[in-house]
Amino acid sequence: MKKMFIAGNWKMNTTATQAKELACSISEAVKQLPDSSIQIAVCPPFTSIQSVGEAIAGSKIILGAQNCHFKDKGAFTGEISLEMLANINCKAVIIGHSERRTYFFETDSLINQKVSAALTAGFLPILCIGETLDERRANQTFEILRRQLDIGLENITLNNPDDLVIAYEPVWAIGTGIAATIEQVEEAHTWLRHYLTGRFDEIGETLAIQYGGSLTAENADDILSIADVNGGLIGGASLKADSFLSIIRFSMKYI
Ligand code: PGA
Repeated sequence: MKKMFIAGNWKMNTTATQAKELACSISEAVKQLPDSSIQIAVCPPFTSIQSVGEAIAGSKIILGAQNCHFKDKGAFTGEISLEMLANINCKAVIIGHSERRTYFFETDSLINQKVSAALTAGFLPILCIGETLDERRANQTFEILRRQLDIGLENITLNNPDDLVIAYEPVWAIGTGIAATIEQVEEAHTWLRHYLTGRFDEIGETLAIQYGGSLTAENADDILSIADVNGGLIGGASLKADSFLSIIRFSMKYI
């Protein structure tokens, strides 16, 4: 059986009021869906994470954060700890998103500290990796993915295939409206499955590998049908309940 995990990354969008409305619409629609094993998460901005948590309570939707600090507490102005997130029922956390790597200079070793802290705190880390357009053009895609995973997962051990999610997000596809082609997604996900199986043995065979980067209701059916694609990390198309729901419905075809 194929695993499917659909997560919405709302980025720096939605006021608290808008976020609550969106969460209520998604939650109501998800409740109408037939029971299935697919996992769904929404990752709102920190200002609305608590109220979104309340809005989705009682549905199967998991609450996720877009970032975290790796320490429990302390003098880290502007940061949010996993302990704080756990206290409001947050269960998942996006780590190493390319926007955090690019605009906030997150390195693979910082990302590794966050993945490790998230696992220790009982969170589901969604580790994002992906190459830039220049790196792809220079035929460095797999070298980059290998480095991001080698360092990002250094000293990480897993007991369960549900404990970690990898999101393959080619940087050039994020927010551009140009998703990777079926062949490119297939090639990358096959490579990733091979890497993860080498790294984590049987657990690696069933870890979820999401695709992200201009995934929409229009291309979701094709992309989600690919063997080693276990769902998606969705930015723009997760900001409208309708398009997010369409993607969820397509994912249900492939479980
Ligand atoms: P996008 O963003 O769907 O808007 O391309 C995806 C992401 O950054 O996770």
